[in-house]
Amino acid sequence: MNAIELLTNDHRKVRALLKELTDTTKRAEKTRTELLATIAKEIEVHSKIEEEIFYPAFKDAAGEGKDEAMYFEALEEHHAAGDLVLPDLLGTDVTSDQFSGRAKVLREMIEHHAGEEEKEMFPRAKALLGNETLRELGARMEVRKAELMASPSLMDIPSKLLGAVASAISPSSDSDDDAINLTRDDDMPTAAARKSGSGKAKGSSARRG
Ligand SMILES: [Fe+2]
Ligand SMILES: [Fe+2]
Repeated sequence: MNAIELLTNDHRKVRALLKELTDTTKRAEKTRTELLATIAKEIEVHSKIEEEIFYPAFKDAAGEGKDEAMYFEALEEHHAAGDLVLPDLLGTDVTSDQFSGRAKVLREMIEHHAGEEEKEMFPRAKALLGNETLRELGARMEVRKAELMASPSLMDIPSKLLGAVASAISPSSDSDDDAINLTRDDDMPTAAARKSGSGKAKGSSARRG
């Protein structure tokens, strides 16, 4: 599978999952929780393989100008969806009205971003990189994707456990440097907490930040 086929398949899958999610009502607590966990993992892994493998190859081949601008725009869209909107949705009570609105916004962002990649970036990548490089990138991405899919997502790990891991790594350090990638906002309820109904966001719809 070449890089574009792999990424386009991912897009198809996440689009279908997001449609399913936005078609649910707030009564579908279990379905929403499960779909959201799957979507979060898909987006996390897909963004990573693009940012680690596909985007750098695109940027190297792009040079300056329109193609480079496309690369920077795509990165910003990852940041907006993956670092802002998705964590916000993960922190929202699935039985609330806010959840429906936020899920819809995430879906629109992903539709827009995936659409731009498919209509603009991928055709340019094909022209700039050629079939052989796209096949090589696809093979590397397949391997990396399998690794990432098998590894626990930060979103799945209870925040207390993350805190314990972080302090075990740097038990007496005054610096936060070692722990910075392992800790996250403690106000963000975990998927596990939401499933057990003990999530802090239960009944709360306060936006973070
Ligand atoms: Fe992307
Ligand atoms: Fe993509």
